[in-house]
Amino acid sequence: MLLSCRHLHLPNLILIWLLSSGVAGGTSPLCPASCTCISSDKGKRKISCLAGGLSDPIPTGQMDPRIEILEISAPENKKNWLSVTSIFQHFKQLEELYIINSNVNQISMHAFWGVPTLRVLDLSANSITTVFDHNFRGLVNLMELNLDDNRIAQLSTGAFKHLTELRTLSLQRNALKNLVARTFLKLVKLHVLKLSGNPFEELDPEAFKDIPELRTLECRGCGLRRINTQIYHLLPYLTHLDLGHNAIQFLYYDEFQDLHRLHSLKLDGNLFPVILENTFVHQQQLKFLCLARNRIAKIPDTALKNLTSLVELDIGYNKLYKVESVAFSYVAKNLQKLTLSGNNLKMDGVKSILNTLYNVRELNVAHMKFDKVSADFFPDRIQILNLSFNNFSEIYPEIFPKNLQILDITNNRISGLNASTVEYFQTLKSVNLDGNPWTCDLCHISDVFSRVNKSRLFVNATCAFPSVLKHKPLVKLSLEDIPACGHSAYTEEDLEETSRRGLFIGLVCILTFAVSSIVFVVCSCVQRHKRNAAQRDKRTRAERQENSLDTTTSLKSQISFQFPLDLTEKKLTVSTIDEIKRDERQGMSNGSIVTGL
Ligand SMILES: *[C@@H]1O[C@H](CO)[C@@H](O)[C@H](O)[C@H]1NC(C)=O
Ligand SMILES: *[C@@H]1O[C@H](CO)[C@@H](O)[C@H](O)[C@H]1NC(C)=O
Ligand SMILES: *[C@@H]1O[C@H](CO)[C@@H](O)[C@H](O)[C@H]1NC(C)=O
Ligand SMILES: *[C@@H]1O[C@H](CO)[C@@H](O)[C@H](O)[C@H]1NC(C)=O
Ligand SMILES: *[C@@H]1O[C@H](CO)[C@@H](O)[C@H](O)[C@H]1NC(C)=O
Ligand SMILES: *[C@@H]1O[C@H](CO)[C@@H](O)[C@H](O)[C@H]1NC(C)=O
Repeated sequence: MLLSCRHLHLPNLILIWLLSSGVAGGTSPLCPASCTCISSDKGKRKISCLAGGLSDPIPTGQMDPRIEILEISAPENKKNWLSVTSIFQHFKQLEELYIINSNVNQISMHAFWGVPTLRVLDLSANSITTVFDHNFRGLVNLMELNLDDNRIAQLSTGAFKHLTELRTLSLQRNALKNLVARTFLKLVKLHVLKLSGNPFEELDPEAFKDIPELRTLECRGCGLRRINTQIYHLLPYLTHLDLGHNAIQFLYYDEFQDLHRLHSLKLDGNLFPVILENTFVHQQQLKFLCLARNRIAKIPDTALKNLTSLVELDIGYNKLYKVESVAFSYVAKNLQKLTLSGNNLKMDGVKSILNTLYNVRELNVAHMKFDKVSADFFPDRIQILNLSFNNFSEIYPEIFPKNLQILDITNNRISGLNASTVEYFQTLKSVNLDGNPWTCDLCHISDVFSRVNKSRLFVNATCAFPSVLKHKPLVKLSLEDIPACGHSAYTEEDLEETSRRGLFIGLVCILTFAVSSIVFVVCSCVQRHKRNAAQRDKRTRAERQENSLDTTTSLKSQISFQFPLDLTEKKLTVSTIDEIKRDERQGMSNGSIVTGL
């Protein structure tokens, strides 16, 4: 069949291609077993062999020679064992080659010679320990080379010198300890260099001499203690610099003076204690700045000077306890997203920052120990608000900004919500309430319970109290499960505390007024006996009444009628008239809402 194909016209070839692609994992000679041969979403001829368990040789002989994309990978538990040798020459149109998770430990000499069409080569997640310039010979059109997650410990001078069209080089999570001078020789068009996750500790500027067009440099988690600013001098076109999760201890005021074109700068997870004045005066194009998770205790007045394009600022999880809002005046015009989470700022400090930053739409104030805010605290323009990991227990619609759309209020101390708050949350685009200690009694969650299946708000909510309902999802509660108010309002600790205190007071009383207390106890016993008798009487009457009603209500309307009745019954267990009245009111409003369902 393969032979006869060669004599067919183009339309017929396409037909055959279509037919053979129809046979998934097919037996067609153009598609090896355990591979799928279908067009990619861009309409390119593509073969994917993802089932795993392949060993050498890669069955390129059974593949359509006109494929444009070849993708070989394997699931973690069924890896391939492959080598990369010169077996791709007959693919005259091959543009993208992926051999991933396949235990490739080396690339043979001139492996890609004769495949000049290749534009993307991805050999990530293999066991390659070294690469040589001859490995890549002939890849004159290669734009992207991915060698992430290998074991490359050393690169020689000019290792990639045949890849003169290369735009993106990714060497993340290898074992590189240093880069020798001229490592990137002839990569004059390189735009993106990803080096994250290699144990460099230091980068030699000599390595960066040949890539003057670089736009993006990433070296996250490289153990860097400092950066030789000569590197920045060699890379004047950098727009994205990511040096997060290193061990940089200090930023000089002129650190970034050569980087006039930066758009995004990430320095999170380092160790510097301060930002000096005027550190960013040359970054007038900077839009995104992340300084989170350092040890910054102070932001001097002019630290953010000239950051007039800044849209997003993250200074979360530092040691800020006081910030002069004048420092923020330089970024006020364009700043839209601000993260202050995890600092020791007081509420009035946050308030004055918010007053200064008059365009902020997205605010993260998680991990701030906030427990209350006044109704006008958050400016109405805020649309996205993160209040997670605070200490809010009571919330109501008035505290939230008028334009709010997305709220994260996970991991607070919210034990219940009243009807107007639940209804307000239902009008928002997204609300996350996970990780709150819902108290599953009628006082706290009856308004929630009656709406629990009407939105996705409570899909993940579980009861924290009372202990018999602990971990029970709210959506699985039935009305009979829910105890009356007060039963669960106390935590076990509270109860213990109360009983301990009671014991102490009791002892003192007995010691001091031994005789009189005995008399008192006797008297009160007599009284209580009388009262109990009266209550028992009342309860029997109520039960009788309820039974007669129950028989008249149909099963279908059970919930709507039982709600208030249920309360009537449980009311007898609460002690004061006031509470009974409150319960009655609540019962009424709940009843009407439930009936309205
Ligand atoms: C800071 O911004 C001002 C006004 O845009 C500009 O004149 C000045 O040169 C900038 N400073 C530096 C050091 O670039
Ligand atoms: C809110 O902040 C917490 C803590 O910083 C973070 O884990 C979470 O992802 C944030 N939520 C959203 C929606 O961004
Ligand atoms: C949170 O609030 C509770 C009382 O509601 C209080 O006991 C606790 O100390 C507060 N936690 C913090 C971190 O402020
Ligand atoms: C919910 O609680 C808030 C504040 O306590 C109150 O203003 C509001 O009227 C309550 N809504 C309902 C329906 O009880
Ligand atoms: C919500 O739905 C679940 C399962 O669909 C059901 O068991 C539960 O009783 C419902 N809750 C209410 C209040 O209707
Ligand atoms: C519920 O939890 C799951 C898994 O933890 C999460 O993916 C989902 O987004 C959560 N849903 C809501 C509405 O919080």
